[in-house]
Amino acid sequence: MPYRIETTPTESDEIPEFFGEAFAPGDVVERFSHLLLETSDLDLSEAWYRDIVGLDVLGRNLTNEERPHAVLRMNTGQLLILVEQENITVPRPGSVGLHHGFMLTPSQMRRAMDRLKERGIEMTCDREITRGDYSIELYDPDGHHVQIETLDSAQAKEVILPGVGVVDCGPADSYQVGDVKLFKDGEFFLVRVAEGFFALSRWCRHFNGRVIWRQEHWHFYCPYHSATYDRCGAPTLLTQWGGRFRNLPPLRLNAIRFGPDGHVLVDTDEVIDRDHYDPTQAAQLPGALDARPPSPYPLPLRWERNDDALNHRSTFAAQY
Ligand code: FES
Repeated sequence: MPYRIETTPTESDEIPEFFGEAFAPGDVVERFSHLLLETSDLDLSEAWYRDIVGLDVLGRNLTNEERPHAVLRMNTGQLLILVEQENITVPRPGSVGLHHGFMLTPSQMRRAMDRLKERGIEMTCDREITRGDYSIELYDPDGHHVQIETLDSAQAKEVILPGVGVVDCGPADSYQVGDVKLFKDGEFFLVRVAEGFFALSRWCRHFNGRVIWRQEHWHFYCPYHSATYDRCGAPTLLTQWGGRFRNLPPLRLNAIRFGPDGHVLVDTDEVIDRDHYDPTQAAQLPGALDARPPSPYPLPLRWERNDDALNHRSTFAAQY
């Protein structure tokens, strides 16, 4: 997939939601307070962080730090403190392993990119984190690695078509209940469960990260911010109630048809959005319902949270 940093993000001054949409108080540490960087030239570094990144300069020597320093502020209140020192050692220069990243709004990012271009400052942008997540890498005057990024929420949630049309997944009876098979070009997983077949689109419903199948955990996993989905594509309980993704919908489906020869045909151009999981969403082999032995359980086993539990105790009800 081509990296799209050259496509300027949508104009917006909304603060990007990065990791999640629903942090509840107490789930995580709220924020860090400051970042301290050593610099060999305070004037130069202060001007760089002010003019390139766009931080607000609060002033000089405002803290108890004995060395000369400048205090800069982000609009979320966190501080960057630049401390001047004669000889500094930049940890792991040139490495992406240790760096600091600033999250900008899309409009701030556009302006930052313009400033960089005007000044002829070299930036690299050779990796796409998730779709819609724009990131550029650069180095401050002392060689500290800086990342600035923004999230274009519209792109991050858009439907992506792989452009391969209908994919023949082979005979339906070659799949056992429990099988999960990746069709890489079609960007979907074909899954057979007791209820039938699902063609699960690979794009995470958070911000279009690509999910992977983790057989050892029996779930799909998004490596970007760790959302997990079960074999029917529904967010797992851990993901739903973990604090980050309380309203995450299930993975999208691609339409399934069965050929006259019994092959499973997945149409990657037909995308089915769903806001909840329902077992009837599974594609049934013609006649399969009649052929299946009656289930001892009229409804599949399902766990539900009782949200009346205002005292934070979760209660569960098994439905049969
Ligand atoms: S893109 Fe964020 S969890 Fe998948």
